[in-house]
Amino acid sequence: MNIVILTGAGISAESGLGTFRDVDGLWTKYDLEEVATPEGFARNPALVHEFYNARRKNCREAAPNAAHSALARLEQEYGGAVRIVTQNVDNLHERAGSRAVRHMHGELSRAICAACMHRWDAPEVMAPEDPCPACGVAATRPDVVWFGEFPYFMDEIYAELAGCDLFVSIGTSGNVYPAAGFVEAAAGAGAETLELNLEPSFNASAFMERRQGPAAKIVPEWVEQVIAGQ
Ligand code: APR
Repeated sequence: MNIVILTGAGISAESGLGTFRDVDGLWTKYDLEEVATPEGFARNPALVHEFYNARRKNCREAAPNAAHSALARLEQEYGGAVRIVTQNVDNLHERAGSRAVRHMHGELSRAICAACMHRWDAPEVMAPEDPCPACGVAATRPDVVWFGEFPYFMDEIYAELAGCDLFVSIGTSGNVYPAAGFVEAAAGAGAETLELNLEPSFNASAFMERRQGPAAKIVPEWVEQVIAGQ
């Protein structure tokens, strides 16, 4: 079987990284219009860099949890293809050992120049006056996809969904498209669909099977079943 796994902030919650829409989520503390839109960046780049500098620091201090490790084990021990599409901008999947990971909303660890689109590894702290290493213009920003911008790798992702036998969604609320529509694309291509989440997501009814619980518990249990059953 080819397995495509979509992950969201919930898989990193037990690593201490905040989710967005839970009770104490990031969008309850920051106005996403100010820190996660191109308009917000144009208005106040210093605030946006401050927000992402803080998230970069949190990410450095966090560690992958048992759910990230279980998915890395699945990629290594399962006979079929295992591909992760993550909405997360943290690098916990990679630090747990996963290799086939696509960051559709970009990565905290990368920077991009708004003037020339050059990309490079982000320094720990970024500021509006930082010159782009390629063109020198002070237009550097985190290489993350903001609201109103196009997610990355969409052609590759839809091709993988069209060819998968099992689509698993882990730790996402199903609020944000296009990711929230991946389950329909996979089901339309004949895949089985499974949701592993702390509580039913907004689009839980679209999944053939749903399991509730903390990812660090239910993801390793699911991986164990898949590996034992192959
Ligand atoms: N284990 C499993 N699931 C969890 C856990 C946990 N320990 N803790 C929280 N969750 C679930 C919540 O129930 C919720 O359904 O994770 C989900 C988190 O939802 P959001 O905070 O909306 O995060 P996400 O779905 O990743 O947001 C999608 O929205 O703001 C944008 O770009 C941002 O990538 C993000 C996108």
